[in-house]
Amino acid sequence: MGSNRLYDATLRADVPGPSGSAHLNNLRFWMGQVDYSRKRLASYGDVPVVGVTLGNGSIVAVRGSAATKQVLGDVTTFEHLSDGPLALPTGQPYSTLFDATATLNGRRNVRSRKLLLPIMHRSAIHSYEKIVIRNFERSPFARPTGETFDLVAELDRLTNANMLACLIGLGDAEAELSERVTQLLVATMDPRVFLFRFGRRTPYGRWLRLVESVHRDLSALIDANRDAEPRVDALSILCHATDEDGRRLSTDEIVGELHGMLASGYLTTSVTMAWAMIALAGGHAQDELDSVIKETQRLMPTVPMSLPRRVMRDVDIQGTWVPRGALLFLSTYLEHRNPKVYDRPHEFDPTRWATVKPTPFEFFPYGAGARRCLGAAFAEMQLRTTFELLLQTGVPELLSTNLRHHMTGGVVAAPRGPVMMRMHPPGTAVRDSSAVLERFWRSLRRDGPGGRRGRS
Ligand code: HEM
Repeated sequence: MGSNRLYDATLRADVPGPSGSAHLNNLRFWMGQVDYSRKRLASYGDVPVVGVTLGNGSIVAVRGSAATKQVLGDVTTFEHLSDGPLALPTGQPYSTLFDATATLNGRRNVRSRKLLLPIMHRSAIHSYEKIVIRNFERSPFARPTGETFDLVAELDRLTNANMLACLIGLGDAEAELSERVTQLLVATMDPRVFLFRFGRRTPYGRWLRLVESVHRDLSALIDANRDAEPRVDALSILCHATDEDGRRLSTDEIVGELHGMLASGYLTTSVTMAWAMIALAGGHAQDELDSVIKETQRLMPTVPMSLPRRVMRDVDIQGTWVPRGALLFLSTYLEHRNPKVYDRPHEFDPTRWATVKPTPFEFFPYGAGARRCLGAAFAEMQLRTTFELLLQTGVPELLSTNLRHHMTGGVVAAPRGPVMMRMHPPGTAVRDSSAVLERFWRSLRRDGPGGRRGRS
């Protein structure tokens, strides 16, 4: 829509929702999507659309698999956000930095997905596996010496190294660049930046300098790789790719795609691995790995409320009218706790995956349909390879006793603060952390008005 406003608080919709000021509620939701959902949205269980504020159409969430399916199946009406915080000043060298698969819509999204497909091909994923093994072997997870470390920081380093080497063909020396991309993502989604767009010594001014520096450094990287021998990583593939008219991509197009991949793939993978690692340290065998990962993604989806959509026309969602211009989220976090699909939905129980078979609209940690996560296979390979090696290496022990989460980068729910652990030699008996984990899963239960009435 070209606007740099995230939402329009004057939009009306006949939706249930919590009372209060739309501006304040929107801000609370944006800063704490999980807590707002479980405390204030969960009780409206059976409606297809719930407002972040009663009767207000500025930010809404869809509920139930029928509404979820409708939104995911109609990429024309429900476009990925490309305005609001993502609107960059025009006429600058960096103006298209945010143009990438996740923010482009229509034919430009299809073209961009096509360009990136070779990077996610099975044979490419297979070749990345060797790099993931090598990076694991260099990490503290591979040393069962009882040394204490922060699993969040170490997984961050590990996934950064995997991402850089596999997808960009770079070594650890460039780790700072992808860290800067993540800093930029977090700053872009910070209300102090997108609500107050002025000044040079302000959060906005600092953000703009970060935009410039990321654009400049990615452009230099591409210029240096344009004429290098072809490799299987994204940087090389994009530098050598031609579009349907046989035209090579411009440096700015490649900058956008590389930035997009780093922004979509690094924090999400590192945080998903952190939640799964925390769950695994509760004591699980190799043959439970798949179901522990799935159960963790069910109860703590890293992207708990999907990427935001802009509603492009007035639309009827399963009987509720939603106005053009609304910002819409899918309620991954709440749908993954739907009692009609999951028995004892708030309990962490990996064994449920032997019998429960949710549809793609009832379990969707990577989204579903035409805009499903492009990096899911790469992320899953990293999770499985790393954790299989970890469980062969020794016994993980969780040392932190107080687990909490926070929202970062606008869409990601990450562990808050350091989470300490250590690795012991195989066969070591370690302290039982199940009570710590149990307390954490319980803290994520809904505790709003509907929760107290026990409606789900
Ligand atoms: C465990 C790690 C990951 C999780 C949980 C995750 C999750 C997601 C989710 C929920 C979406 C949006 C779905 C929607 O709202 O419709 C998405 C989109 C996307 N992801 Fe991932 N992601 C992960 C890793 C990656 C990696 C490693 C990459 C790339 C290298 C990547 C690239 C993308 C791209 C390009 C999109 C946009 C697709 C489109 O809009 O057409 N992701 N991801």
